[in-house]
Amino acid sequence: MRRSWVPVAVLWLGYTVLMMWAVAQFNWLPEQWAIEAEVVDEAMVLLQYLGAPVMALVLAVMTWALIAWRSNGANRPDGPPQRDNRTVLTTWLIVTSALAIFVVINPGFVGLAEIRGEPSADYVIEVEAAQFFWKVTYPNGTESFDELVVPSERRVRYDVTSVDVNHSFWIPAFRIKIDAVAGLTTQAFATAEHEGGIDDDINLRIQCAELCGAGHASMAMPVRVVSDQEFNEYIETLGEGE
Ligand code: CUA
Repeated sequence: MRRSWVPVAVLWLGYTVLMMWAVAQFNWLPEQWAIEAEVVDEAMVLLQYLGAPVMALVLAVMTWALIAWRSNGANRPDGPPQRDNRTVLTTWLIVTSALAIFVVINPGFVGLAEIRGEPSADYVIEVEAAQFFWKVTYPNGTESFDELVVPSERRVRYDVTSVDVNHSFWIPAFRIKIDAVAGLTTQAFATAEHEGGIDDDINLRIQCAELCGAGHASMAMPVRVVSDQEFNEYIETLGEGE
């Protein structure tokens, strides 16, 4: 038992290096279309780095257990029971608690402050969820059920609510998500960075992210990012059509 820590430590180091290398090497996160997306993705990558040594330790112990305690067909009895080990217990508690507290603060509180700490916005767009569609209302009072058009390089506040059950307002390309609850107005902020639409990236859409009934999966609405000028022209012409 005592001699096992050396191979476990070597395996732990190996797995950690391998996983951290993979995190640095591969980026499977979708394209970022908003400033907020960078904050969220940075948090995601940080958590992957921090999670690597934790998962590596579990894998190292498992791997070594498979090698050192394999039966080879012989019917070997279990070792003596190990009831406690104060050093392991204390170290484990301190390390995991410290890690948990650390991630609550950063990227937790720090990231949230970056995304919604500053409540100012250039535009406010109201979003109403219903089974199974979205309604958006622009600053000039015009409404749309077909698509959400947003200006690029402008900070938009989304005031989100629901008329029936709980839904969740999610724009994957922006990495923003907030619950849509009847009787409540929840807020999300996003600053789109460049122009584009759902044809450029399937993630440029509002997608419901809370199971809300049979139509949940198809409760989506395309998002189109245009210039600030085009945005204002669009909502003007939307009003003329009514
Ligand atoms: Cu609305 Cu799921």
